[in-house]
Amino acid sequence: EIFNTASEASILVAQEIAQLIASKRSQNKICVLGLATGSSPIKVYEELVRMHREENLSFSNVVTFNLDEYYALKKENHHSYHYFMHEHLFIHIDIKPENINIPDGIVPIDALKDYCIAYENEIKNAGGLDFQLLGIGRTGHVGFNEPGSHINSGTRIITLDHITKVDASSDFNGIENVPKRAITMGVSTILKSKRIVLMAWGQNKADIINRTTQGEISSEIPATFLQNHTNTTFVLDQSAASEL
Ligand code: GLP
Repeated sequence: EIFNTASEASILVAQEIAQLIASKRSQNKICVLGLATGSSPIKVYEELVRMHREENLSFSNVVTFNLDEYYALKKENHHSYHYFMHEHLFIHIDIKPENINIPDGIVPIDALKDYCIAYENEIKNAGGLDFQLLGIGRTGHVGFNEPGSHINSGTRIITLDHITKVDASSDFNGIENVPKRAITMGVSTILKSKRIVLMAWGQNKADIINRTTQGEISSEIPATFLQNHTNTTFVLDQSAASEL
């Protein structure tokens, strides 16, 4: 779906999420959301916060699982995805703190394997992801599933691609300060979601959007695995769609 502006697209994505939350509430069920960081989802979070403040949208039946976290950043680090999510969404809404799940960036390396299995199990025990929000990196990563990520990959630690570090370098005041690794949900974790919306804005995403949607499905561009997911929508602005 192609929109004139990222703002109008983000409002519609936020409305879909709000409707899902309300529909689960009417069935006395929890709503399990997979959430993303980066600049792409910011307007969606802004709109959800506005709906919470002005339209009584409640998140009391919402459980969230974030895609990824830099390794090894502490929660308090202003570059951590923990910090990002609280700043942009969680401190502004009525979600129960115990319902927020974000990979812990400082799990000791020898405890990581069990930690990642436990993260997968928590998603499963919550009933699986009802909705996964995604951005896309210029490498074709979703979460931090960089080129080479297998379709069957689960939550794990991954080494960040050079292009990803270049793109993050301005946030970190230089590429040498960008973490080399991250913990990310796997491709298979993401593909199990019942509904997926991938958002991309701007000209610098046009090439990867073209290759992701029109190219051969391959672990060289992990986002191409979404082509076979039966309930995925790519939500784009005109610039991101300009090479389709
Ligand atoms: C980071 C995140 C991804 C995100 C990507 C794109 O690498 N781990 O989940 O999709 O950046 O970021 P942006 O939305 O800022 O373009």
